[in-house]
Amino acid sequence: MSGQVTGGVVAMKARGLVRTLGSGEAAVRVLDGLDFDLSPGKTHAIVGPSGCGKSTLLYLMGLLDRPDRGEIYIGDLELAAASDEVRTRARNASLGFVFQFHFLLSEFSAMENVMLPMAKLGGKSREEMEQRAVGLLDKLGLADKARRMAHQLSGGEQQRVAIARALANAPAILLADEPTGNLDERNARQVFEQLQGVAHELGQAVLMVTHNPGLAEQCDRILRMRDGRFT
Ligand SMILES: Nc1ncnc2c1ncn2[C@@H]1O[C@H](COP(=O)(O)OP(=O)(O)O)[C@@H](O)[C@H]1O
Ligand SMILES: [Mg+2]
Repeated sequence: MSGQVTGGVVAMKARGLVRTLGSGEAAVRVLDGLDFDLSPGKTHAIVGPSGCGKSTLLYLMGLLDRPDRGEIYIGDLELAAASDEVRTRARNASLGFVFQFHFLLSEFSAMENVMLPMAKLGGKSREEMEQRAVGLLDKLGLADKARRMAHQLSGGEQQRVAIARALANAPAILLADEPTGNLDERNARQVFEQLQGVAHELGQAVLMVTHNPGLAEQCDRILRMRDGRFT
């Protein structure tokens, strides 16, 4: 736990996170006091055995669930105890999500999928949204596939579109739960390398759960979890 907290600029931080799930006899302390900092432009891997609390932690950091105890900060803003309204605003403005399954809209083009979060946030013309979407797809090596329907893309390509979509509103933080878990080794490596390249280039703090030890080793920092704690 000590040693996970570093000096310097911090994009997001967690202090003393505790989460108990289930009730009565079946209650389990899934997260048992976690402290860590996420640095801009760095990739942070979370590794640990199944059931150790990785997804629960990502849900808390994604402001989709609240801890029983502890604080979550984006910049100086504390969000664990903030109102739903403040949390929703922070989520839309500062967080991007990538999941194991891409959840693209299959009858929409790659470009349209990337434009959706921009349309939801508002403030951009259609032309601006298109331009930004194509630019992000280009960064992920998909410039020539921008107008393809999502279902006409390979699994690796779809996951790269999902990363572009997560970056649509230039979030400071990218949360990814086994983003390469559904891909073969070659595609997993390519998707990971592009994710890391984008983080380094655009300055996103990436927090990524992975079961792939080779990819975890390539991250800038590794957080090893066991029974709801860092080891
Ligand atoms: N609603 C719940 N009630 C009780 N225990 C739960 C509940 N949801 C999840 N858990 C337990 O929390 C632990 C952590 O789950 P999870 O965060 O999904 O682990 P991981 O992503 O590391 O595999 C598991 O042991 C799981 O059984
Ligand atoms: Mg999980």
